[in-house]
Amino acid sequence: MEVFGNGISVNEAGHLTLGGADAVSLAREYGTPLYLMDETVLRQNCRDFKDSIDRYYDGNGLVCYASKAFSCKEIYRIVKEEGLGADVVSGGELATALSVDFPADRICFHGNNKTTEELTMALNAGVGRIVADHIGELQMIGALAAKLGVTARVMLRIKPGVDAHTHDFVRTGQIDSKFGFALETGEALAAVKAALATPGLTLCGLHCHIGSQILDIEPFVHTAEVMLGFMAQVKRETGYTLSDLNLGGGFGIRYTEEDDAPPYQDYMEAVSQTVRAKAAELGLPVPFILIEPGRAIVAPAGVTLYTVGALKEIPNIRTYLSVDGGMTDNPRYILYQSRYEFVIANKATEPKTATVTVAGRCCESGDLLGEHLPLQEAETGDILAVLATGAYNYSMASNYNRVPRPPVVMVKDAVPRLIVRGESFSDMYRNDI
Ligand code: LLP
Repeated sequence: MEVFGNGISVNEAGHLTLGGADAVSLAREYGTPLYLMDETVLRQNCRDFKDSIDRYYDGNGLVCYASKAFSCKEIYRIVKEEGLGADVVSGGELATALSVDFPADRICFHGNNKTTEELTMALNAGVGRIVADHIGELQMIGALAAKLGVTARVMLRIKPGVDAHTHDFVRTGQIDSKFGFALETGEALAAVKAALATPGLTLCGLHCHIGSQILDIEPFVHTAEVMLGFMAQVKRETGYTLSDLNLGGGFGIRYTEEDDAPPYQDYMEAVSQTVRAKAAELGLPVPFILIEPGRAIVAPAGVTLYTVGALKEIPNIRTYLSVDGGMTDNPRYILYQSRYEFVIANKATEPKTATVTVAGRCCESGDLLGEHLPLQEAETGDILAVLATGAYNYSMASNYNRVPRPPVVMVKDAVPRLIVRGESFSDMYRNDI
């Protein structure tokens, strides 16, 4: 019986299961808080995106998993095996990917302020595409490539000027964004000309990313139209045909019943129709397409488990249910008021008759995971599961209050394996002098 979807179900004991493994047993075995990931679900998501490149672009493209969503050695190994590329945004992500021999030519390196050290590392490793974000960076890449005796393959990050109807902090396509070159002001065209004139660079194409957790198809379609239009302008004004178009990530997922997320194939189909139609209309070849889903690949595969501690009822106001984690392992509620589905894992078949506010353990009033949530009647010692936490939870975790980061356990066919060790108290002062 798959009551929740994404490999999450309930067994005869009434316990929540993930990938066939009993969440309550896993909490007992590994302790809480605990991040769980279902390998079958995340591999399937990789395949769905890859298949749609095959179907809608005749295989002429590459899915680069946006590893900021969840970065550790094992995810790069899995993504590599699935034949995907990776988007990295820092020397740390790049180093982790390279540490498991991720093919460098399938890596896209992003960032609005990459350092000389990071760019040197990328050029030495032979990273397939460096996405330049400003003019100074183009010059820096050119100079470094000349010094190292290599040719850098570069894309330019463009702000297509599309409003993606998402949270302000995760909107990036509009002109007032720290990322990329603006189209409206002529900055983007000037950057193309500068890149073409810089020795040591091959300008392979353009990149854009309009935001994250986008639940409409229309902004993606509009972006593709704008980008093809600009590729045609580049050809007209410089005679140069750009070969690659990276359309970024941002595909929204269903966190709660209220999120009406279209299937990824629908986004891919609609965008590909626009890309093909526009290319034909403008006399351009259909570009090599890159996409960068992060959340859509890993979020649905993740569940976080906590142990319920203090319960505090404030009459006529609310009931606080405190857990042994919080903003340190999942800062998304405090940052974006993100909503999740909550289940008491050891009472998964019971009705949700209580209403609670889930509080974390940090010394901070805003440390909440959700407010006024429907939940089973809980008591101290119960295991609370938060669903769809596979993206931007572990990767955004912190050690505030010197709370150690939880371990990550991957489940495959009901068999768990530790993929990231939990931190210890001594890890909290490991670098202290
Ligand atoms: N490509 C680029 C250039 C990006 O900046 C991002 C996300 C992605 C791809 C992947 O986007 P996705 O498919 O995961 O939506 N911390 C926020 C999300 C920040 C996204 C940053 N960039 C959150 O927790 O919602």
